[in-house]
Amino acid sequence: PAPGWAVEADVVVVGSGVAGLTAALRCTAAGLRTVVVTKANLDDGSTRWAQGGIAAALGEGDTPEQHLDDTLVAGAGLCDERAVRALVTEGPDAVRRLMATGADFDRTADGTIALTREGGHHRRRIAHAGGDATGAEISRALVEAIRERGVRTVEHALVLDLLTDAEGRTAGVTLHVMGEGQHDGVGAVHAPAVVLATGGMGQVFSATTNPAVSTGDGVALALRAGAELSDLEFVQFHPTVLFLGADSRGQQPLVSEAVRGEGAHLVDADGVRFMAGQHELAELAPRDIVAKGIMRRMQEQGARHMYLDARHFGAEMWEHRFPTILAACRAHGIDPVTEPIPVAPAAHYASGGIRTDLHGRTTVPGLYACGEVACTGVHGANRLASNSLLEGLVFAERIAEDIAAHGPHRAGAPAAPSVPHVMPAVDPDRRAEIQRVMSTHAGVLRSAESLRAAAEALDELSLDATVASLGDKPAVPGTESWETANLLAVAQALVAAAREREETRGCHWREDFPGRDDGTWQRHLIVRQTAGGL
Ligand code: SIN
Repeated sequence: PAPGWAVEADVVVVGSGVAGLTAALRCTAAGLRTVVVTKANLDDGSTRWAQGGIAAALGEGDTPEQHLDDTLVAGAGLCDERAVRALVTEGPDAVRRLMATGADFDRTADGTIALTREGGHHRRRIAHAGGDATGAEISRALVEAIRERGVRTVEHALVLDLLTDAEGRTAGVTLHVMGEGQHDGVGAVHAPAVVLATGGMGQVFSATTNPAVSTGDGVALALRAGAELSDLEFVQFHPTVLFLGADSRGQQPLVSEAVRGEGAHLVDADGVRFMAGQHELAELAPRDIVAKGIMRRMQEQGARHMYLDARHFGAEMWEHRFPTILAACRAHGIDPVTEPIPVAPAAHYASGGIRTDLHGRTTVPGLYACGEVACTGVHGANRLASNSLLEGLVFAERIAEDIAAHGPHRAGAPAAPSVPHVMPAVDPDRRAEIQRVMSTHAGVLRSAESLRAAAEALDELSLDATVASLGDKPAVPGTESWETANLLAVAQALVAAAREREETRGCHWREDFPGRDDGTWQRHLIVRQTAGGL
């Protein structure tokens, strides 16, 4: 659709989680005219749902070097060590700046920052807020700062496509403001720098910890714009998600790793602990190992879930330390104080995404990415718990510095951008089918056969599901059909990468290739859209 209106800016930030809002605040502080565009309310993204916390070497005796070691081990040989080094060395100060912005973290009795442990960390280094409501506090503080500083925001607007000039440089985005009519609502923000911070793609699966807005919009936009994507096959399944029944769909309540960090045990259908013999860190092994341990025991026992037992915490600790999780469990009729919590793995985090360099620059000039949508190289094949909020903070700051130094001041910035990309639309009724295909054939356990079935089903959907073939419904695209197109595009790209990687590494688990093969596969898979396809 052609934009009916336009605003001018130096930077447009797409997304309003920790990465987007941090980038916007820093760009604003650098004197750049900044516009934040977000799909729902400012606080509706994944950040608000983060429980466990934010990892940084803040504790006595801890060092960035130890944080680096744990991150590299979890990443299973695919982390970019330079990116991890930037993360862990700049992380502690970035967290202190977040506190200075107003985020209030939990403290110990002597006033120091309270730190917990999570999977893969050999030390207590996870700062948290409100017990298990860390993301909500970070989101509150950042949204407040955005409002106080008068940063221009556009809420309830789905960004459609990247605008580029004749030389292929970024010139802004087109967007659809919801509730303003399918075409009247389409406008543009013209800016020579675009920061994608749109979060994850968990909604591509049937059951996920991600909120409804996580439909892979940024990755799909970048794909259409010709940017390189990397590591898409590495989707992290969080081991302990509250099991609400095999047919439960959409966002599921998370039971934070921090619950295991404080001493909860995983037990099987017979009440037996099963992680102890599998890894030296038992329940606190890196996330992929715990998820696999749970899946294996579920298969052995023919069970739909395992249990997380933290009855020994007692009511007071549950209420004080994990109020959010306690409330979620009780809302579903489970009382963790008196009974074990039924849990199973569910899609949680995209370790891959839009490939960037150390300054958040993608392969399209002027297009940046940070947060879950990006692949900065810090996560490799499996993200270390609580590194994601930190990554959002650190790389958003790096991007703002880069834009302030080089971005909008470049010579010959275009006055009249063109619209080179055409936003497809897919029948929204196909969304559930895409999710079913992905969960059944490209979920925790994958094989050549299951992935071929996924690819064929998705190809078929893409052939006959465009808006043109909506049958008796009006052939007018809207937010839901654009979102569904994005889901389909990222599902196809993810499956293409998962088919190619014929080994098991990190959170990519191939039944037909059970081992890690460093000789052939210690390398990244890059996906790019060309005229001939992926
Ligand atoms: C959790 O609290 O378990 C989630 C932490 C994370 O995903 O990093």
